[in-house]
Amino acid sequence: MALDFDNRTAMITGGASGMGLLSGQELAKQGAKVVLLDVNEEGLAQAAESIRSSGGKVLTFKTDIRKFPEVEAAEKKAIETFGSVDILINAAGGMSGRCCNNCTSFEKLPIEVIDWGLDVNLRGTLYCCRAVLAGMMERKCGVIITFGSVTGEQGGGGPAVDYSAEKSAMRGLTKSLAIVGAPHGVRACCVIPGPVLTRPSMANMKTLLGRAAEPIELVNFILYLCSDKAAFITGSSHVIDGGRLLLQ
Ligand SMILES: NC(=O)c1ccc[n+]([C@@H]2O[C@H](COP(=O)([O-])OP(=O)(O)OC[C@H]3O[C@@H](n4cnc5c(N)ncnc54)[C@H](O)[C@@H]3O)[C@@H](O)[C@H]2O)c1
Repeated sequence: MALDFDNRTAMITGGASGMGLLSGQELAKQGAKVVLLDVNEEGLAQAAESIRSSGGKVLTFKTDIRKFPEVEAAEKKAIETFGSVDILINAAGGMSGRCCNNCTSFEKLPIEVIDWGLDVNLRGTLYCCRAVLAGMMERKCGVIITFGSVTGEQGGGGPAVDYSAEKSAMRGLTKSLAIVGAPHGVRACCVIPGPVLTRPSMANMKTLLGRAAEPIELVNFILYLCSDKAAFITGSSHVIDGGRLLLQ
């Protein structure tokens, strides 16, 4: 399906890798200007090169989404350069135990690891939404995508306790953004992935379909939600998990 993103600018957190990067590459192919935020400077440089070499327009900002002034500065520079931010994809995040290399079970998990999860998955995502919302409302044009996780739906033991809480919070955040945004032309949707092969270990997670998703299977749907073809969809959460939540 051809989706028209001409004259749209998409700001994407976690844009240096995984589904954030692929969303940026695919949006750029379909005419969007792309702004990538990440803490991984080298990854950002490679991402920018891949988009520019295919003729896309891209800006990158080394940004820690836990720091509101950095997020706000990136949004302002994006608007100065491209004129607007019309789409926000909140892909930055992950399970704190994995990202902090400490998969101790919750009752013994260091508080710094729990704080990383809360700060990146929840606080940072809120900061990014806060940074773009006023401009979107003013221009009466905006779509915000949040990422939940099947772990947020099922709960998770071991080191996944805080991750489950942070990811289930994305549903409430998305509904609230939809309520606040609707009178001003802003939509919000939550995508809830099962295992996605942004890293090989995700192949070990069981699904009804007997496999994990290719990143493009999620990204195609995210692009649809960001497009005008999805103009009637807001406040909703979309499980894309190959039937993982139905496993008996
Ligand atoms: N991959 C999966 O199987 C899966 C399943 C369910 C949910 N999710 C969620 O989907 C989203 C994308 O997952 P992915 O696997 O594509 O991600 P990924 O791990 O490939 O990329 C995450 C990116 O976030 C960046 N990041 C981390 N902390 C940051 C910070 N403070 N500020 C800015 N950037 C920061 C990292 O540098 C990295 O580039 C995540 O929120 C993840 O929790 C993924």
